[in-house]
Parts: sequence; C-alpha cells; structure tokens
Amino acid sequence: MRGDLIEAFAPGAGAARAAALFRATYGIEPDGVWSSPGRVNLVGEHTDYNGGLCLPIALPHRTYAALRRTEQDTDGLELVSAQEQAPSRVAFARVGPLWPTGWTAYPTGVAWALTNATGTTVAGWQLAVDSCVPYGAGLSSSAALECAVGLGLDEVFGLGLSADDEGRALLAQACIEAENVVAGAATGGMDQSASLLCRPGHALLLDTGAGTRRHVPLDMAAEGLALLVVDTRAPHQLVDGQYAARRATCEAIAARVGVRVLGELAPDDLPAAAAALVGPVTLPDGTVVDVETQRRRLRHVVTEIARVRAVVALAAQGRLAEAGPLLDASHASLRDDYEVSCPELDLVASAAREAGALGARMTGGGFGGSAIALVEQDRVDDVLAHVRAAFARAGFARPDALVATPAGAGN
Ligand code: ADP
Ligand code: GAL
Repeated sequence: MRGDLIEAFAPGAGAARAAALFRATYGIEPDGVWSSPGRVNLVGEHTDYNGGLCLPIALPHRTYAALRRTEQDTDGLELVSAQEQAPSRVAFARVGPLWPTGWTAYPTGVAWALTNATGTTVAGWQLAVDSCVPYGAGLSSSAALECAVGLGLDEVFGLGLSADDEGRALLAQACIEAENVVAGAATGGMDQSASLLCRPGHALLLDTGAGTRRHVPLDMAAEGLALLVVDTRAPHQLVDGQYAARRATCEAIAARVGVRVLGELAPDDLPAAAAALVGPVTLPDGTVVDVETQRRRLRHVVTEIARVRAVVALAAQGRLAEAGPLLDASHASLRDDYEVSCPELDLVASAAREAGALGARMTGGGFGGSAIALVEQDRVDDVLAHVRAAFARAGFARPDALVATPAGAGN
C-alpha cells in the first residue's frame, strides 16, 4: 500500500535470506537463524546513562543471524553480511588486544563479552547476517546485530541465558559491553535492553537507576494513532565525541551536586541543584563547560525523566493522544538545553506538527538519525508528504520513513 515506507521483511523471509547467504558463503547448513529488532524510543532521551527512565519500543524491523558452531577450527570466526562487502575472518585469540574494526567488531565483541561473562570460550563459529533495520538511522541497527548474534551464540554454545528475562538482561549486558569496549561507543543500555526484552503491543519502561523494567501496554491502534518514524539521513559524524561529552558533563554535574547519578534528582530539587553548580567544568578531552550550560544539561535530564512518568501515566489510561505536548517539550529540551538536535531533526518536528501531528520529537542519540511523530492513523501520508516537501524546500535529501508498531524482542 504505502510503497515508499521502509517495510520489514515478510514473515519467514529474513530468516530464509540469512540462511541462503550462509549456505552460499560456507557451503553448509547453519545450526539455526536468530533475529532481534531495532528500536525507537518514545520518550526519555539521554537518560539511560544518568540512572533515569526511558520508554523504547521494538520495531518490526529485525536483523537475522544464521550461525553455525564449527567443529574443526575452534579459534576462527567467519563473518559475512548482506549489508557489507566481503566475508571476513577473525582469530578469536586476537580479539581483546587487537579489536577488530568496522562491522565485525559487533559480533566478535559479543563473543568476547560472553566469554568473559560465562567462562565458556565462545570461539569457532560462522555467521551470515541480513537485515531490514535501516543502517546508522538512530534506530539501533548495531544493537539489533549484537543481540541477534548474542541469541545465536547463547544457543549454539549452550549458555542458557535467553530462556527468561533475567538471563536476557545478562545477555543484554554482554551486548552493551561489546558496544562500549569493542566498538568503542560509550552508550547507555537502552538499545540492547529494548532489543532483548520488549514485548509485542508494549513499550518497555526501563528504570536504569533501580535496574528494573516494566512492560507498559501501548495500544495505539485502539486510539486510532500511529507512530511515524522519519530517518533524516543527515550525516552525523560528530555524534561519538558529542555523546561522550554529554555523558562526561552529566557525571561531573552529579559529582558537584552530590548525587551518584542525575536520575536521583526530582524536578523540585532543580533550584538547589542548579545553585550548587558554581564554576566551569573541564572534561577529560579539555573542553570547558560553563555554569549556564551545566544548568541546562541538568534541567534536560531531570525534566525528561518527569516527562517519561507523565507519558506512562497517559498510556496506562488509554490517553496517549494527549502525550503530544510532552513529546514536543522533549524535543525543545533536547534542542535547547541538551543541544543534541540538528536542523533536519528540528524540521521534521516542526513540519510534522504543522501538518497536524499531535506531537513530534527527535529520538535516539541525536545529531542526525531519526525523529518520531505521533499522528492520527489516517493522517500518516499527509504528515509524511508535508515533511518531505519541507525537506525539498530546505534543500535536504529526501527522508526515509517507516511506521512503528510495538513488536517483540529477539528470538
Ligand atoms: P545505528 O545503531 O543507529 O543504526 P550505528 O552507527 O550505531 O547506528 O551502527 C551502525 C553500524 O552497525 C554499521 O555501520 C555497521 O558497522 C553495523 N551494522 C548494523 N547492522 C549491520 C548489518 N546488518 N550487517 C553488518 N553490520 C551492521
Ligand atoms: C543512543 C544510545 C542510547 C541512549 C540514546 C539517547 O545513541 O545508544 O544508549 O543514550 O542514544 O537516549
């Protein structure tokens, strides 16, 4: 119907594609195919590394990993992806001192982290990957890859982690470690938790301070609503350095205010906490953050956590349609106080609202990537057309888009 939206693979097609690539590459059947989804965050941005709340849903778009444990060569890892060029080989014994670079860092990083976590040497396997999660769009294609591979390795090495949510939380932790240490991105844990723990028809409320989670029913269709996701396709080379800088700033602010993490503060604490910030902070890379900027960063984190609570309360009452102003406020806070938006993300948010979206905001780390708009179901095409026309007028590339329904975790 809507031919210009990014569709998920048809049921069975993703697994068949990964298995076919596996056979074509290695000339043998895989032991199985595992898959895990990308995610979109409804609200609660840049809170997961601050001991705060976030509210992701899993996308219907998934990454598929066909895997086989090899009997002969217990050290070698062989990897191929339909989204990448040539097959690669990695010697597991070298993972650690010499981290692989490029896409193979993610699967080999998961094997390395699982080895550390379980004491079982997760070496000697072949992998073939295919995916319909958009790459580098802020929709966590890297987490989807890590988690699909993690589920497969868990099973072929008999680690027993994926049977229940407690084990899956440990598996998510290994995937987070792969991302942080091997791929070198100092992200929080939202993406991998969403990919491994979300349930269909639910958002996942993560309390990263308490280490707890709750499945929040999210029946958008019952309210006649849809969640439009627009991938701006804006280049975001700065994201790594800026993300790490935001994280370091928050840690410095927490130390000055005298809390372990900023998520311990409530909105009522803001005046006293802001008053405790009296001098500039110098980050490990030498950047100096003035007091005014520290106060804005603090205000974003604390008010954003309060917005997550408010959205969850509305969702629980079947009043998600009223969450629009909270999404708008989240965007303004990320743009003005946290300064992680960019012109393309701002344009999606403003154009979507102009065209009748109930609320819109950037989602994910920022500096490019995707934005979401909460829209009445029968307005999806109009809102998207309006956003695309605004992009054309601004001279930006035509944005990609998809409609997100809350899907299930990896399996
Ligand atoms: P995001 O996670 O938001 O999509 P990232 O830049 O964090 O963006 O991760 C994208 C990277 O993850 C890609 O450049 C690639 O290295 C890796 N990746 C993701 N999906 C795949 C895939 N299907 N095959 C190979 N590599 C992948
Ligand atoms: C992502 C990161 C998440 C989260 C998010 C911002 O890029 O992977 O852990 O911090 O940014 O909410």
